[in-house]
Amino acid sequence: MSEDLHIPDGATREEIYAAILPQIEAVMSGVDDLIANLANISAILKQAFDFHWVGFYRTTSPKLLMLGPFQGPLACVSIPFDKGVCGAAAATHKTVIVDDVDQFPGHIACSSLSKSEIVVPLVADGETKLVLDIDSDKVGDFSAVDQTYLEQIVALIKRQHFT
Ligand code: SME
Repeated sequence: MSEDLHIPDGATREEIYAAILPQIEAVMSGVDDLIANLANISAILKQAFDFHWVGFYRTTSPKLLMLGPFQGPLACVSIPFDKGVCGAAAATHKTVIVDDVDQFPGHIACSSLSKSEIVVPLVADGETKLVLDIDSDKVGDFSAVDQTYLEQIVALIKRQHFT
């Protein structure tokens, strides 16, 4: 696998997701280290979309998320399941999209530049094992397109590491 990411010029967000999905699969192929794969997925999503913050929190003790590999500014280290957007996704086992973080009760502001957010949980054996968290500096930046493709990326991680 070449280490260059191929992103089509002038493509829509959906076209970019469709282009990077097989590349993510290729980069993960044969790599059995979870952290290595989360690190490369963070880098690919950051490079493809230049999101403000892209990364993972892992459940390292009961009902507690711990910062994992990410790209972007400094982030808060631990998040209980009853706090923030990440905690909401982890606790409900559902993807959460927040169009305007200032309107989300309990949102944890790691960066004042974050305006909207999407968090996708990876659920296996009935438990949230990790979440993929993306922050944008634009209000309302995430849609069902992001949800669909990011859930597919999380499904790849689940297939390789949690089944
Ligand atoms: N905003 C998140 C915290 C994590 S940072 O965005 C990286 C939340 O409310 O859970």
